[in-house]
Amino acid sequence: LRALILVGGYGTRLRPLTLSRPKPLVEFANKPMLLHQIEALVDSNVTEIILAVSYRAVEMEQELSIEAEKLGVNLIFSHENKPLGTAGPIALAHKILSTSDEPFFVLNSDIICDFPFKKLYEFHKKHEKEGTIVVTQVEEPSKYEFVSNKINAGIYILNPSVLNRIELRPMSIEKEVFPGMANDGQLYAMELPGFWMDVGQPKDFLTGMCLYLSSLREKSPDKLHIGDGIVGDVLVHPTAKIGKDCRIGPNVTIGPNVVLADGCCIKRSTILKSATIKEHAWLDGCIVGWRSTVGRWVRMEGITVLGEDVIVKDELYINGGQVLPHKSIANSVPEPQIIM
Ligand code: GDD
Ligand code: MG
Repeated sequence: LRALILVGGYGTRLRPLTLSRPKPLVEFANKPMLLHQIEALVDSNVTEIILAVSYRAVEMEQELSIEAEKLGVNLIFSHENKPLGTAGPIALAHKILSTSDEPFFVLNSDIICDFPFKKLYEFHKKHEKEGTIVVTQVEEPSKYEFVSNKINAGIYILNPSVLNRIELRPMSIEKEVFPGMANDGQLYAMELPGFWMDVGQPKDFLTGMCLYLSSLREKSPDKLHIGDGIVGDVLVHPTAKIGKDCRIGPNVTIGPNVVLADGCCIKRSTILKSATIKEHAWLDGCIVGWRSTVGRWVRMEGITVLGEDVIVKDELYINGGQVLPHKSIANSVPEPQIIM
């Protein structure tokens, strides 16, 4: 089977993290977002994955080809000269997608769920129409393309005949392809069981992490950390170092080579690779970027996101700060703002 993943967006809503790394490579629960999808596809007998890229393609190609080799999957990079939207990239890859009559999967690169590829394939084969989209129930549907309280989950399976409906130009699959298919009675929806989140912005990234960790608690609790001071669902990379008398959790991910000094308190946060959190810092609702340092007795909350290599000096208070890479912060930030 084949799949095409749309990885061409600019990821502006996940700044400042995406100033350092393309969104699909930002680690969600200690693994690049895109790898969650690639692994799930490989598990469902997909052997060829087209990555539709339009931006920062080289970085993605370098990192992902190593992973692809490990997984034994054929990754094909399909480069767009200009962004082609969510449908155009499918037309660009038509040669590969039309080499067999088998349907192919299409997915957005920033969604997290229990990927239902096997079920989707079976459901699709059964109704024999051109396409199936996965829908999920959300509380705030107005944030997405929606009909009722069910929204498009960004996961589809399409027959190669759908290629006849798509042109090689910037084109939206949601607005320009699906309505026509629905009119012709060729589009079915399958409801997603279980959790789902678009993790393309900081607030949702953290909510998605909570959902992901609690699903991990059900499926493979052995992957979660246990020990003194660990509260609820906490993921800790084996290379991370945790000091004495820390209180970590609930809902925390600690990345590789992270150092937490004595007496830290961290809730509902992701600490990315090689960051350092000094003594008695208190974090709730934060994403700490790669190689950043949070000083002693610092308090950070309110969806604070530190970009790569940021330094927050001792004893400061940061509330909802979005700090650009390589900044050193010497004053408190009591109200949400972007710090450049
Ligand atoms: N190759 C390529 N080229 N990919 C693109 C382009 C492009 O020009 N534009 C966007 N993408 C990719 C993004 O990287 C992302 O993986 C996916 O297409 C969707 O783009 P987003 O920018 O994340 O869209 P959204 O979150 O506002 O809305 C989409 O996802 C929702 C679910 O998360 C839509 O599909 C909605 O209908 C859906 O509900
Ligand atoms: Mg999105």
